[in-house]
Amino acid sequence: MLYLPHIVFGAAWLFAEASASVVHRPRSHLERSNSKAANTSGKAIYIITNDAQANSVVAIPIASDGSLLVDQGSSTATGAAGLSGLTADGAPAGPDSLFSQSAITLADHSAAGSFIFAVNPGNNSVSMLAIDAQDPAKLSLVGEPVVFPGQFPNTVAASPKNNMVCVGMTGAESGVSCATYSLTQGIQANTVDALRPLALTPAQTTPPVGPVNTVSQVFFSEDQRTLYATVKGDGNSTTGFLASYPVMSAKSACGASARSVAAAGTTSSPNGTAVLFGAAPIKVAGRAKKSADMLFVTDASFGAAVLSVDKKTGVASTVGRGVVSGQKATCWAVISPATNTAFVTDVASDRLVEMSLTDASIIGAGPIELSNGDPGLIDLRAAGQFLYALSPGNGTGEAAVTVVDAVKRQQVQHASLASLGLAASAQGMAILA
Ligand SMILES: *[C@@H]1O[C@H](CO)[C@@H](O)[C@H](O)[C@H]1NC(C)=O
Ligand SMILES: *[C@@H]1O[C@H](CO)[C@@H](O)[C@H](O)[C@H]1NC(C)=O
Ligand SMILES: *[C@@H]1O[C@H](CO)[C@@H](O)[C@H](O)[C@H]1NC(C)=O
Ligand SMILES: *[C@@H]1O[C@H](CO)[C@@H](O)[C@H](O)[C@H]1NC(C)=O
Ligand SMILES: *[C@@H]1O[C@H](CO)[C@@H](O)[C@H](O)[C@H]1NC(C)=O
Repeated sequence: MLYLPHIVFGAAWLFAEASASVVHRPRSHLERSNSKAANTSGKAIYIITNDAQANSVVAIPIASDGSLLVDQGSSTATGAAGLSGLTADGAPAGPDSLFSQSAITLADHSAAGSFIFAVNPGNNSVSMLAIDAQDPAKLSLVGEPVVFPGQFPNTVAASPKNNMVCVGMTGAESGVSCATYSLTQGIQANTVDALRPLALTPAQTTPPVGPVNTVSQVFFSEDQRTLYATVKGDGNSTTGFLASYPVMSAKSACGASARSVAAAGTTSSPNGTAVLFGAAPIKVAGRAKKSADMLFVTDASFGAAVLSVDKKTGVASTVGRGVVSGQKATCWAVISPATNTAFVTDVASDRLVEMSLTDASIIGAGPIELSNGDPGLIDLRAAGQFLYALSPGNGTGEAAVTVVDAVKRQQVQHASLASLGLAASAQGMAILA
């Protein structure tokens, strides 16, 4: 397998006792009950080209029936450069040029608008763009791209509650750094904080050699009080981990509260995980949410897991593991609001697998096979009952997004995006719901 030589035949020995107990079970009534979210469609999706000359954000509006309006799409330069990671044999990686989930993210500031943050791996910077309130395909830069410490930013998280953006770096100096942002002036360069190192063993190069032994994703918890980072082991002798950093609040002399992310975090390697990749925070109701965050996280070495993170200690433990049979690299995850289940993709399989948010067991009769000619799928997002999954192509096939009805479990559109300048280096997806 070209992209993931170590994962595919490595790691198996780590899980000699892997859960033979995972059963395919029917979806319960509760898991299906979110009817309010169904039949509302999103407004647009956003993907970065990660082009080494001029990185751009491609925006594609969504029609009321959930389909993509490719001919109304746009491309907006981020003002800085992309850069692809390298495969083990030294070639530019692609698909999965950044070995990450969330290379682009969206911050919803309700009436004040929605904003996009996109990494520029070639310039160690992040760009902020505003989405026009009338036209979701019209983007404009807010301020200049801002440089963060470390090299090769490949994942970005935004917290509208804290006006804070955090970026994960996976080059020669790897780690996480954060800054605050203003809706009118952009990311505030003078607030960029020191790199919180994330240990990669051995240390990476710039650009990094992946996909294993890299930073996977930075993201905020559902309540935006914790910043998380997933980090991949090498699929062989090192084990990946989850890092957690509490968001701190300090009152200034005049009573205003200033937020920052703690300089030191907690790392833990939940039992049975090794190559943690894409994550989605699970909404938890009632009292339970005070004591733990629940996370759905893929693991490229076997499938996905549901993790529980103790809010006091930041330590993660495994609640359930779902082994996806025949998988090559299950890396990206999203939760559908219509089904209240997770859907995961694999860079080497043209299919979606639906999994439980309770224990990561596989739901339904099995994978949703697409058979549309894509070699595999990477980043995906959800709005209403629809899922949008990116296949950047592999240099020969064209970049495309497949639109899938999550409730009916069937493809509704396979849209080529080559006309918008997307190719093998394309990565990340944000959605305006
Ligand atoms: C870790 O998981 C394995 C199976 O995957 C299980 O046998 C073992 O008891 C677990 N250990 C802990 C400490 O939970
Ligand atoms: C919801 O959308 C589906 C198309 O995906 C359509 O068949 C159905 O009629 C819609 N239902 C309502 C109530 O609009
Ligand atoms: C961004 O990176 C490119 C490619 O390395 C370089 O030519 C350019 O000068 C950089 N721009 C900035 C603003 O650093
Ligand atoms: C796995 O790790 C061992 C010990 O560190 C090393 O000798 C071996 O080359 C590694 N195998 C792969 C496929 O990386
Ligand atoms: C690229 O993907 C196509 C299917 O879309 C496949 O036929 C071809 O073999 C792939 N090429 C490589 C180099 O993986």
